[in-house]
Amino acid sequence: MKKVYVGMSADLVHPGHMNILKAASSLGDVVVGLLTDKAIASYKRLPYMTYDQRKVVIENIKGVSEVIPQETLDYRPNLERIKPDVVVHGDDWKSGTQAKTRQQVIDALATWGGELVEVAYTEGISSTYLNKSLREIGTTPDIRRSRLKRLIDTKSIVRIMEAHNALSGLIVENVMCESGVEYDGMWSSSLTDSTSKGKPDIEAVDVSTRVTTINEIFEVTTKPMIYDADTGGIPEHFAFTVRTLERTGISAVIIEDKTGLKKNSLFGNDVTQTQDSIENFCQKIQAGKKSQITEDFMVIARIESLILEQGMDDAIARAKAYVEAGADGIMIHSRLKSPDEILEFCRLFRSYHDTVPIVVVPTSYNQVTANELCRAGVNVIIYANHMLRAAYPGMLNVAKSILENDRSLEAEQSLLSIKEILELIPGTK
Ligand code: SPV
Ligand code: MG
Repeated sequence: MKKVYVGMSADLVHPGHMNILKAASSLGDVVVGLLTDKAIASYKRLPYMTYDQRKVVIENIKGVSEVIPQETLDYRPNLERIKPDVVVHGDDWKSGTQAKTRQQVIDALATWGGELVEVAYTEGISSTYLNKSLREIGTTPDIRRSRLKRLIDTKSIVRIMEAHNALSGLIVENVMCESGVEYDGMWSSSLTDSTSKGKPDIEAVDVSTRVTTINEIFEVTTKPMIYDADTGGIPEHFAFTVRTLERTGISAVIIEDKTGLKKNSLFGNDVTQTQDSIENFCQKIQAGKKSQITEDFMVIARIESLILEQGMDDAIARAKAYVEAGADGIMIHSRLKSPDEILEFCRLFRSYHDTVPIVVVPTSYNQVTANELCRAGVNVIIYANHMLRAAYPGMLNVAKSILENDRSLEAEQSLLSIKEILELIPGTK
């Protein structure tokens, strides 16, 4: 019997997969190299089913002899080990992001005289199509909540974008760049939620109001959310906030170690801000952790030492204490233009804790790339205010232009056309 290798993700299994496996089993003994969650997340969205769930499905399909993990998108490590006679794949990988992988497979097979067999693409069905349908169905609070932990476990970097209403949430849900990279989740920012309600960022918008906005976002999206809870209030109140957020389907809460009247961190010491004591803040972390019901929910401690110029030693001492108190991750904030102090913090923190997630908010040090932060040991990047900062100048300029020109003709070029807005939300017609 010839040895036949098929690499697949097999998350949303459909007739196209069956066609490939049928063709493969007609050629010999089929070994499926099932891409691990990490391998899939390296180039596209996290699969719905875990590796073990997908493995059970595939190993029970007729004609499959064995399922082994394929740890990378690159087939070569498995191919070089197994040296199959044939590799079978759909013919839809000749162009686009997978073309390089295809060429690597052809070159590897050539070294031992193996052959690539390509099966015609099955029209009318694809994982991309099924994924779109699944997003339209929506999600449950449990599924959404658990997703952030899985993302952090499997992806080298998790990208989170601010959303302050349902429409900005839809952008975060759907936008994708050419290479297929998309946002992994949303940030409910105290700054942008307060600002879009015309209020200052001083904890004046109460939790119930914040959650009402989040429910509107959740009605039309499926991605996970991290909630900015400011100081979290007093520990007794924070315990209730955790319950509310968890029940809503939020994945993580971030609380900052400040006390008294909270002001936005990006003011630094230009305004009066007081940092909480390590002891008090640890009690608040513990109150939150004690209150949560599920395993998935995360309480992340945000350190303001660099913002308040208290020095790196203080930041590290606090990070150690907060992890000890039960924090599921550390957010380190800075308002400098250079990322140097953040990179230094990551280097030091990683020498004590190699897996505790690090979260950063590169608003002021915006030249640093996600890739560079990833290499420094960062797990989660939050783009904390960019949707609202993009929207406001657009609205202001159009409002001014109509007054100045006494008509809307001149403003039209900066607007979404009427046709586009009518087609923006499915079901409007
Ligand atoms: C927010 O987005 O509200 C934040 C981040 O807390 S920052 O504005 O940088 O403090
Ligand atoms: Mg905030």
